[in-house]
Amino acid sequence: MNKAVGAAVDRVDGRAKVTGAARFAGDFRQDRMACAVIVPSAVARGEIDAVQTAAARKIPGVLLVLTRENLPALHLKPPGEEHPYTEALTSLIDGKISYAGQAVALVVAETLEQAQEGAAAVHVRYREDTPALQMNEADPQAVFPKESHGEKVQYVRGKMDEALTMPGMIKVDAAYFNPVETHNPMEPAVTLAWWDHDHLNVYDATRWLVGTQATLADVFRVAKENVHVMCPLVGGAFGSKAFRWSHTVLAAAAARMLDRPVRLELTRAQMFTWMGHRPESRQKLTLVAGPDGRLIAMRHDTSSATSPTHPFVAPSGVVSKMLYAAPAAQTTHKILPVNRATPTYMRAPAEAPGMFALECAMDELAEAARLDPLELRLRNHADIDPATGRLWSSKNLKACYEIGAEKFGWKQRPLAPRAMTDHGLLVGWGLATATYPGHRRGCAAAARITANGKARVQSSAHEIGNGALTVLAQAAADAIGWPLERVTFELGDTTFPEGPPAGGSVTTASLCDAIDRAVRAAQTKLMETAATLPGTPFAGAKPEELATAEGKIFRRGHPAQGLSYEEILRGAGMNFVEAEAEVEETDLKTKGFTIQSFGAHFCEVKVDPALAQARVTRFVSALDIGRVMNPKTARSQALGGIVMGLGMALTEETIYDPRTGRPVNDNFSDYKIPVNADLGAIDVHFLDRIDPCINTLGCRGAGELPMTGVTAAVVNALWHATGRRVRDLPVTPDKLI
Ligand code: MOS
Repeated sequence: MNKAVGAAVDRVDGRAKVTGAARFAGDFRQDRMACAVIVPSAVARGEIDAVQTAAARKIPGVLLVLTRENLPALHLKPPGEEHPYTEALTSLIDGKISYAGQAVALVVAETLEQAQEGAAAVHVRYREDTPALQMNEADPQAVFPKESHGEKVQYVRGKMDEALTMPGMIKVDAAYFNPVETHNPMEPAVTLAWWDHDHLNVYDATRWLVGTQATLADVFRVAKENVHVMCPLVGGAFGSKAFRWSHTVLAAAAARMLDRPVRLELTRAQMFTWMGHRPESRQKLTLVAGPDGRLIAMRHDTSSATSPTHPFVAPSGVVSKMLYAAPAAQTTHKILPVNRATPTYMRAPAEAPGMFALECAMDELAEAARLDPLELRLRNHADIDPATGRLWSSKNLKACYEIGAEKFGWKQRPLAPRAMTDHGLLVGWGLATATYPGHRRGCAAAARITANGKARVQSSAHEIGNGALTVLAQAAADAIGWPLERVTFELGDTTFPEGPPAGGSVTTASLCDAIDRAVRAAQTKLMETAATLPGTPFAGAKPEELATAEGKIFRRGHPAQGLSYEEILRGAGMNFVEAEAEVEETDLKTKGFTIQSFGAHFCEVKVDPALAQARVTRFVSALDIGRVMNPKTARSQALGGIVMGLGMALTEETIYDPRTGRPVNDNFSDYKIPVNADLGAIDVHFLDRIDPCINTLGCRGAGELPMTGVTAAVVNALWHATGRRVRDLPVTPDKLI
């Protein structure tokens, strides 16, 4: 029986956040804290010839100018081997510059202002080389990587070549382009590091506490137990903070050299070169269908940019393996190195760009087949996972289409473009499918039930603005059988049992089982304790004779004669019971199924025909994330994902200076993300159907699914409004006019 789970509970950290009482990693201070400022490379490719530090060192308050000359020995993995936490500082080791923004020095001073002044006084001489700044300037020796994060990215099934040349078929051949997008969380990256002898303490704005801990232990050759990483709240990340980056290492290195706490916060501009980005990519889609619109073959070729040092793949094609029931399918991925920092994952890293291309191509196929785009998708519905032949754990995509279409009024849609107007504006309706895997990760949690009627559950997980603190407390409250007010979830600290990284929408789906197990283990201890209590109905009971529900322990069959957990603990003279438990990434019930979320987006745009200005006036999404843990936080996740998708469609683009490779719109006024004034009505509907395979509660992640497909729904609606197919993001007025 669930009470807290499924309820539209307010965020437990909501009041603290809106009143400014909440503390993020950047809000902490230490006595004798010094401030560090990075000096970034001004050139995109070359070598550091000389760094003149004398002037900087003379500035009052400057404590340290860290350069190649005095960088202490760090045990770094070779570049290319791991995710690029080493990347921005290899220039401090070998003097080679591979992108603009890479570190050439770090200035540490008593105050931030002194450090900034010091950084401005560092003079660097470079030996410059001609950089490759665009994908088309990249070394033509493109790399075809085998996999990306365990997913095979070169893939083929069926008789591909035969299908592609079959006569009498409808064929769509189109290329789609998406530019670099940069994660723009409100909270910049920040580290505060200090050493107590060999013990390193770090406040770090991170979505992967345990990874940061492991990296720091490795780099400084100390035991993992001697690295304490804390991050009570994350002020947004969208992927960027799910990895380890050089500033954390640099702050810890400077703190050790100076033997005092060092705080290093990136500037907004540095956020554009330091923590990855969604890479630009070109995706070529070839769809072959019979006259009835049924797919015979689909091919999805992705080229994306990476850095010279790390082979990052934008795995956009993976959606084409599984989304539609095409007998033949092929995906290829190649990467082209340019002189830019290494890209990284950004919300729905494969699916956001991949579904843009695939779902736009499906719209083009619907046009060619003279079919309603929804009917086309129903005809190509994949009843089983076409990539593996497995059953879906729970797929309700048809219901998503149906509910979304009904709420939107899709039936009224004229097939032809440019057929609807409103007060002189062109009106268009478009749709797209949404999909994202239902991942879970191995993780652990500890539960403590106390004699004063409070419980606390802990795991080194992350509250990234998604509501994890609230939703995980809801799961814990129901597991214990207590009202939510009596249960607190604690996260953000590596001294807690190991939590999952906040990536791949795994947090809730993974931790709810670990919480459940930890609570049940604590309840078992309570029952064992009860059996030792003389003068109670439980004295001497065997474990199987006792049961628990709603915060009470009773003899099986006699729930009315139970004692509360508090009474049992007090009776035994104990303050609390506590237990820890873990779950694996997979178990019996997950095996043999493809666990995947689906949804459907419906979009209305209105376009001014004279100015080609487009507004999304109405957006309806029907989403299936399994059981909905909290309709309020889930809706908030969906709104955020949809708004990010609108930004990807219409405004977001990191623009690089073609001469220097530096981002020119590296600030909140020139990098356009949608604001409230840009948004129309957004209506989100969740199916709320239990996934029987993923975990005991049946909930899949809510974070990334909502963003997938949004961009295509907008672009398809723009075609329907104007008759113009734009395949190049973002769809700015100059492309639409
Ligand atoms: Mo996502 S960027 O894989 O958390």
